[in-house]
Amino acid sequence: MGWGKGRVMALILGLESSCDDSAAALVTSERVILAQAVIGQDDAHRPFGGIVPEIAARAHVEMLPGLIRRVMDEAGVVPADLDAIAATAGPGLIGGVMVALLAGKGLALATGKPLIAVNHLEGHALSPRLADPNLAFPYLLLLASGGHCQLLEARGVGDYRRLATTIDDAAGEAFDKSAKLLGLPYPGGPAVEQLALEGDPRAVPLPRPLVGTSEPHFSFAGLKSAVQRAAASGVHKPADIAASFQQAVIDCLVDRTARALATSNAPTLVVAGGVAANGAVRSALAELAQQKRRAFSVPPGWLCTDNAAMIGWAGAERFALGLTDPLDAPARARWPLDASADKVRGAGVKA
Ligand code: KG4
Ligand code: ZN
Repeated sequence: MGWGKGRVMALILGLESSCDDSAAALVTSERVILAQAVIGQDDAHRPFGGIVPEIAARAHVEMLPGLIRRVMDEAGVVPADLDAIAATAGPGLIGGVMVALLAGKGLALATGKPLIAVNHLEGHALSPRLADPNLAFPYLLLLASGGHCQLLEARGVGDYRRLATTIDDAAGEAFDKSAKLLGLPYPGGPAVEQLALEGDPRAVPLPRPLVGTSEPHFSFAGLKSAVQRAAASGVHKPADIAASFQQAVIDCLVDRTARALATSNAPTLVVAGGVAANGAVRSALAELAQQKRRAFSVPPGWLCTDNAAMIGWAGAERFALGLTDPLDAPARARWPLDASADKVRGAGVKA
């Protein structure tokens, strides 16, 4: 049975290559993921302890076409069945961003179907609505990934107000850098979470930058430096450092989110992005939501880390509103969700 006849839902191909995961997915406007595939590049980047942009871009060129073929075959879908092609157009490592965007443009050109140039951050921001059909706007979103750590009021598709961002490192970046200091493999988040299970979160005194201040933003650079000192001292067990570090990040996330909740009437607290795959982070924020009498929503872990289902879904949300893009849509290294947000102070600002 094909996709052609009598259907009312839209079928979107999602493509992602903005960081170190190549991914393709087929998603419907009714939240059905017909097929999806992700290939990470951890092995290629591991010797360098972080992502090498040039290696990432080349790997996407090799991987993405096969992934597109795989999801189409798995779902029994041909290009003519698609309603639109949604590709991440930024922000991210620009060489990688161009791969999925250009693949999407090629398919759009060949099929005559519309292109949707998706903001990767909007992919994360809307991913909870793919997982949770009851999640309505507005919601207060903590978006914590390898490149970003922001609190946003999500008011609608394409409508975000940024309440806070990091003045230095992102939360996932802090996990990755601390993991490296502890001699753990890349990517650091899952490795630190695993090691922390065996450690005491109160064993190593570490700072909680900006906690308790009226300042709305996040800061993690000082925490990473403190981890560096603790690791170099040779006094502490690595598991205790990992557990204490993770607890410090959680305390920062909870304090900053509580502060933002006090300024927002949004009835639901939502967490997304790679760091939201962390079990301890999820529980702490669920508890905060309960204390503050807000509903809570977090996508399953696989939907928190980079994937193409969230890009296809963001495409479906935009397609439903008629928001398609021309074939000269640019690839963007930087692309804030709230273009009106002020620049924040601080060294190494990544707003
Ligand atoms: O959203 P994502 O896959 O990519 C970006 O858009 O950045 O996030 C990746 C980040 C990495 O820094 C990774 O270490 C972190 O999310 N991460 C985690 C966990 N899984 C991934 N951090 C803490 N605990 C985890 N289980
Ligand atoms: Zn991401």
